[in-house]
Amino acid sequence: MTRFLVTGASGLLGINLCLQLSAENEVIGVVHQQKLVKTPFTVVEADLSDAKIPLNWIEDLKPDVIIHCAAMANIDACEKDPEKAKQINTDLPEMLAFLSHKNGIQLIHVSTDAVFDGAKGDYREEDQPNPLGVYAQTKLAGEQAVLAANADALIARVNFYGCSVTGSRSLSEFFIYNLLANQEMMGFTDVFFCPLLVNDLVDVLLKMVNLRLHGLYHTVSSECLNKYEFGRRIANLFNFNADLIKPVKVSESDLVAVRSPNLSMSTEKLANALGNPLPDQQAGLDRLKKLYDQGYPQRIRLFSG
Ligand SMILES: NC(=O)c1ccc[n+]([C@@H]2O[C@H](COP(=O)([O-])OP(=O)(O)OC[C@H]3O[C@@H](n4cnc5c(N)ncnc54)[C@H](OP(=O)(O)O)[C@@H]3O)[C@@H](O)[C@H]2O)c1
Repeated sequence: MTRFLVTGASGLLGINLCLQLSAENEVIGVVHQQKLVKTPFTVVEADLSDAKIPLNWIEDLKPDVIIHCAAMANIDACEKDPEKAKQINTDLPEMLAFLSHKNGIQLIHVSTDAVFDGAKGDYREEDQPNPLGVYAQTKLAGEQAVLAANADALIARVNFYGCSVTGSRSLSEFFIYNLLANQEMMGFTDVFFCPLLVNDLVDVLLKMVNLRLHGLYHTVSSECLNKYEFGRRIANLFNFNADLIKPVKVSESDLVAVRSPNLSMSTEKLANALGNPLPDQQAGLDRLKKLYDQGYPQRIRLFSG
């Protein structure tokens, strides 16, 4: 049985990862402010903005694999508190990379498509990043620190959606719950991305762990689209009124932080390593619909404490 330490276990990725992993493995999930109850895995509460905290744990817990999902992921909060963003998004992964290298632990560090400025699109792993805001800058610095401290670490640049414990952590939840409430909402027509369903992302990450991949991989859907189109596809799939989603340019919105316009990324390197293409949007959304039909969103929210 493999022992996994997962940070950010209460987050959108972390909870889905821990639930799937715990079916066959020993899992210790780290949370901060969001309490979890009745989980089929062990939960530890800690504020990891002090990067020294994992020092003791790693020696005590001796995990075989660390999957580092915790981050200060709110873009506007990062702009307001750049020092805290650096502590969580840069210093913490650096510490985990140092400790995993020292103790022979496999490390998967989760990063972001936002390391690119979005001017070009179709980004490959060898393209030069140019992060636009504090979140992206601190995440890129985190990637660089991880690879400098542990050349065997795997870095997955991701973008994903799905079901969270709060019901409000993902873009699909934003669209579904506004559509359900018959509420008008904005859909950005000038922001392109390649989101994977989080459950597909979990499957892919676990294959990457088994293959012991290391280095940088773009871990997103093989198909990219704009956020307005993503919302419309969800509305149509769930038989909601797609006209509630109003096409808007992000440049005309009141968001504080700069957004990268075209974060489409090539998944060729990862598809070659896996031996199969990454799921496209239809595959992800069909699986999302099936999960809703099976009551998965309600089940996952029962873990919220
Ligand atoms: N969602 C996306 O589409 C997307 C896109 C690009 C990259 N990413 C990356 O993917 C990873 C997972 O993202 P996510 O969407 O799952 O994030 P999320 O839902 O915002 O969750 C963030 C997690 O980090 C934890 N955390 C935050 N500050 C902490 C602290 N001081 N100490 C300990 N834990 C702390 C949170 O704990 P509490 O909730 O318990 O406070 C939560 O479990 C992150 O590295 C993010 O940068 C996500």
